[in-house]
This record gives sequence, structure tokens and C-alpha cells, in this order.
Amino acid sequence: MSEIIYVFHTLPKNETPVLAGVFQYDTPGGPGKFRYVRSYLDREDALPVSPVDLSTLNSEVVWSGDRNEGVFGVFRDALPDFWGRLVYASNNSLPSTSVSNVMLMRRPDPLRIGALDFSSENRLPESKTITNVHDMARLVSAAQMILDGDEGGLNLEERRLLLMGSSMGGARPKTTVLHDGKLFLAKFPAKGDRFDYARVERAISDLARSVGIETPNTQLISLPDGRGVFLSERFDREPVPGKAGSFFRKGFISALTLLGFDESENLFGSYPAIADAARRAGIDCGLELYRRMVFNIAVRNSDDHLRNHGFIREKSGWKISPAYDLMPTPAVPGISTFFDLSIGVGKMGRKATRENALSESARFGLSRSEAEEIFTVVSEGVSHWRTFYANNGVTGSDAEKFSGSFSSLLP
Ligand SMILES: Nc1ncnc2c1ncn2[C@@H]1O[C@H](COP(=O)(O)OP(=O)(O)OP(=O)(O)O)[C@@H](O)[C@H]1O
Ligand SMILES: [Mg+2]
Repeated sequence: MSEIIYVFHTLPKNETPVLAGVFQYDTPGGPGKFRYVRSYLDREDALPVSPVDLSTLNSEVVWSGDRNEGVFGVFRDALPDFWGRLVYASNNSLPSTSVSNVMLMRRPDPLRIGALDFSSENRLPESKTITNVHDMARLVSAAQMILDGDEGGLNLEERRLLLMGSSMGGARPKTTVLHDGKLFLAKFPAKGDRFDYARVERAISDLARSVGIETPNTQLISLPDGRGVFLSERFDREPVPGKAGSFFRKGFISALTLLGFDESENLFGSYPAIADAARRAGIDCGLELYRRMVFNIAVRNSDDHLRNHGFIREKSGWKISPAYDLMPTPAVPGISTFFDLSIGVGKMGRKATRENALSESARFGLSRSEAEEIFTVVSEGVSHWRTFYANNGVTGSDAEKFSGSFSSLLP
């Protein structure tokens, strides 16, 4: 059996999504095929939806192949991961493992990441303006109920708010909220967290910015019980001047899509390969990517998988997105100082070492001395981690859990 999903694209400087093409999918397992529609191709401002998949604007049929359940990477990037699937499953009384990619494409969601939206109908409902969240604590406890599988007590408004933001990726509970007129990704605490994730993530984001890494605007909200909620301004949205609650959209793809991989192929990815693929796609990001790799080594962020690197379409074209999901792994002195990143670093594979990171610096367009200078700047900056923790209200006992996580990478 085959099913049709209509694919909508919001072009730069536009507020309204337009039908870009039709995706025909063989259920249950794919593959799928896509074709841009004539009305889209006839637009003067038409753009391909991604710099890698579906990157040619013509009316030919393009097959998806088998990866990502037969769904193009740029589509898969606009769908949720563990958390959003749990919310979807909860709302549809399904086991979360039965939620498929194409199932998630039947229902439009104006808040999904990037500039795409999907529907099983050939039009989108009029998009409602998003409103401020007044009671963050209630939303956090509603998310906890979903995590606990105990959602009987959720009221309709809580369900609506959680479902509305549930298309964003990642495993941790989260939603999208309007705050001070801007759109933010809000990452919630969860029962059983070993430390205050929100405060630590904010501290690391500030630390990254201090060494020259581009990061989104961020804020912390304190819940009545003292735990934090981490707000990260949506870098794929831009407020429409003079129209409160309306946003322009920017296209998004993950590094997984840039490399053309399936979700199960993360281990085949590497920073030098991302730099090479970006260059081929006309994106110049070698220096920034290298800085992020060195930073992840210095702060022991070993969750730097291919979905934790992204690219967005700005007016000037595609570029690396601001850095997100920077989270050090707790480690106390005595725990092995040897660890691997989630993707390859250099000639010695995923090993998180200076030597390994220097071994492929040329593929980032850097000379040896430019690469070494990055180590110097990052190591100096990271040595101040305790100040950043304290400034974000990380407690002394939480900070101690990271006393072996930060290292100087100087020879
Ligand atoms: N500021 C932002 N603006 C727009 N999109 C963002 C922003 N921050 C993160 N994202 C997107 O949301 C997704 C989920 O965010 P994030 O990676 O921080 O969540 P997570 O649950 O901690 O993820 P993981 O499962 O990797 O631990 C990211 O993969 C990225 O696509
Ligand atoms: Mg993530």
C-alpha cells in the first residue's frame, strides 16, 4: 500500500508555507519517492529544501533509498526522537516503539525544526499564534507524568502544550515556548537526574561562547523547587518585525543528513568527514567545527553524535548552526582520563586526545599552528569552568561531580 504525504516549505522572507512537493511512501517500510510540484518549480524564489538531499530543482522523481525507514534525511531531521515519540504515543495510546517516521509526517506541526512541514492533506491548517507559558512548573510535572507512563491526570491544555512542541528531536523532555516575545526550546528536568542538567547546560553554553563558539541566546528559569529549566532561543526562527508571535523560518539539516547516513550509522561519522562534506556543499565551517571538537574533548562531552551538529539556511546560504546540546560527562579524578567522542576525531578514530585532533587539522583548512592556537584558547577558557558553574547556580556538590571532567589540552 502506498500513502501520500504533502511536503510544505516556508521560503526565506515568507511567513506562509507553500506546497513544495509530494512524497509517496510504500507502507510499512518504504522506500519513498519525492517530486517537486510544478507550482513550486514555477516560483521565482523556489529553493531546494536541503543542500544535499533533493538538492536539484526539477520535476524528476527522486527515490529515498532504504536509510531512515525510507524517509529522506532532511525529512527525518524535522521529526522527533525518543521524547517526541513518547508524547505522540501517549496521545494516541500506542506503544512508543510502534511510532514510525511516516506516521509522524501525517500531522502538521508549525513548530517543527527547520522550514519544512508535512501533512496527509494537501493544505495546512491556519497556523495559530503561539502564546506564553504561564506555569512552567505544571508543564514540567506534566512531562514527568508522560515519562512515568502515568498521564491520566494530564488536562487538555497540558497535553496541547506538550504535543505542540513535541516535534523537536532529542531524548530529554522538552517543548517549545514563547518567552519575552521570542521562541525558545525549553529543556526540562526529570526525576532521577543525577545533577541539575539545566544549570550545567547553561554554564557549558556560556563557557563555549567564552572561547569563541557561536551559541544560541539562552536563559534559565528556576522552578519553585529550585530545579532549572534551560531555555535556548530557536536559531531556526526569526521574529517577524512588528508581528508578535509570528516567525520567519530557516531550513535545518543535521550532520547525519549532510553525511547521508542512517541513524544506526553514527559511528561511521567523524569531524573531518563533516568538514569535507560541508565544503562539498559550499559550507565553510572548518574553523568553527574544529573549535567545537576541541571544546568537546576539553569538557568531556562524549554525546556529540551526528544529530548534535546542525546546519541552517541563512539569507546568505547554508552555514553551521549555533552549537547546542553541549553537556559534559560527570567524572571525578581517578576515573579514566581516556575516553572517546561519539564520532571520529582524527587518524586514531574517536580517541579524545590532542594528538588525534591535530592529526587531521588540515582537513578543516587549518595549519598546524592555527590548530594549536585553538587548543591554547580552549584550554585557557575551560580552566574557568567553576566560575561558569557558580554563575549559573550549580551547587557545590553538583560541581564536584565534574571535578575530573575538564582537562587542559596543552602539551
Ligand atoms: N536553540 C535551538 N534552536 C533550534 N533547534 C534546536 C536548538 N537547540 C536544539 N535544537 C534542536 O533540538 C534537538 C533536541 O535538542 P537537544 O539536542 O538539546 O536535546 P536532548 O534531548 O538533550 O538531545 P540528546 O538526545 O542528543 O541528548 C536538537 O537535536 C536540535 O535539532
Ligand atoms: Mg541532542
